[in-house]
Amino acid sequence: MTPTPAVLDRVTALAPDALPAYLYDLAALRRHAAAVRAALPERVELYYAAKANPQAPLLTALRDAVDGYEVSSGGELAYVRATLPDAPLAFGGPGKTAAEMADALRLGVHRWHLESEQELYRLADLLAATPEAEVDVLLRVNLPVVSGALDAVALAMGGRPTPFGLDPERAEACARLLAEPRFRQLRLRGVHAHLASGLDAPEQLALAGQVVAWSLDLARRHRFELTEVNVGGGMAVDYADPSARFDWAAFGTGLARLLAPHPGLRLRIEPGRALTAYCGWYATEVLDVKQSHGEDFAVLRGGTHHLRTPATRGHDQPFAVLPVEAWPHPWPRPSARSGRTTLAGQLCTPKDVLAHRAPAPGLRAADRVLFQLAGAYAWNISHHDFLMHPHPGFHFLPGDRTDDQPAHPQQPQPGQPTG
Ligand SMILES: Cc1ncc(COP(=O)(O)O)c(C=O)c1O
Repeated sequence: MTPTPAVLDRVTALAPDALPAYLYDLAALRRHAAAVRAALPERVELYYAAKANPQAPLLTALRDAVDGYEVSSGGELAYVRATLPDAPLAFGGPGKTAAEMADALRLGVHRWHLESEQELYRLADLLAATPEAEVDVLLRVNLPVVSGALDAVALAMGGRPTPFGLDPERAEACARLLAEPRFRQLRLRGVHAHLASGLDAPEQLALAGQVVAWSLDLARRHRFELTEVNVGGGMAVDYADPSARFDWAAFGTGLARLLAPHPGLRLRIEPGRALTAYCGWYATEVLDVKQSHGEDFAVLRGGTHHLRTPATRGHDQPFAVLPVEAWPHPWPRPSARSGRTTLAGQLCTPKDVLAHRAPAPGLRAADRVLFQLAGAYAWNISHHDFLMHPHPGFHFLPGDRTDDQPAHPQQPQPGQPTG
């Protein structure tokens, strides 16, 4: 996966002190999201899981392609609502506070994903102050899925003991409660399940089939009309092969087949990573190259405090090298001697590695390195202030230089989009 022309132009134009920098190709993001949307059949809604990357320019670039946004905290809720005042929001998360729930009622959310019995009581309690108000809810379930698929994936959030959602028998108990008059302000629309991340299209379809079948049974047993099932996100992004893509066409065809016998049903999906990973790049330069016990190490400006994903997932972040010929110093240029180099950051921890023994023959100090697939779960999940290095720059492309941000605001302020 080569850097897009917009990204290459900007990285080449940046002075070394303007690195590291995140660059987001918003035109590429729009094209990708439009293609995903086009692959999905009618009666499948596409929501973006804001947790993957909530930066305002990305949220806005996605607006034409998505039906709404999934938010999982009061902070995300306030920020996405301020950025896109009219966008439908689905509000989930396993630890909603009473204050966040009150805010969600005030700000208006399209769907509530309820994850425990207590949340039913709390929501009904908050609603009691406005007896005419009603809200639409989905029960988030943790189903025991019949497949080995979940054992193999990077982050399984269901199908085994987790703090997320309701076990099937607790979901049954919630369905019984919701039929009682005291919960009449909560309209049960269906089921939500986000069970895993990193699934390819056949695995996702197998899972979606099981979730839909279980939801139909639940609705039959409790005599409510099942109008929607949210089958979650978790579409695979392959960090070992950045040119590989989730098969959206096969997924869309499979979902259409799943929906065909149920004309009153809508499905919803809420991918994060597979929408925004591809549009983002983390660009930096090699500060030094040295040999340690027979191996080459390149020390980069920046590191895992800006891009934590490879450390948390245990992968090597794919990258491209932009050779820089100029070497203005009178001393010898540090260079890699073997074909493989470990790309480390500036932190004083051996965990600060973005790629281990990666092929980078002849890598030299002052060469630039562009890490790919850095548009999702990158800056926003990183430990920015460990060691107090400067924050990276942020560039939202294409656009004139007014689109640049010297640094991402640490606490995004609602109403002040970042670009
Ligand atoms: C409830 C929920 N929905 C959607 C997502 C998005 O998952 P992904 O970015 O893997 O598509 C997550 C991620 O953790 C999640 O917890």
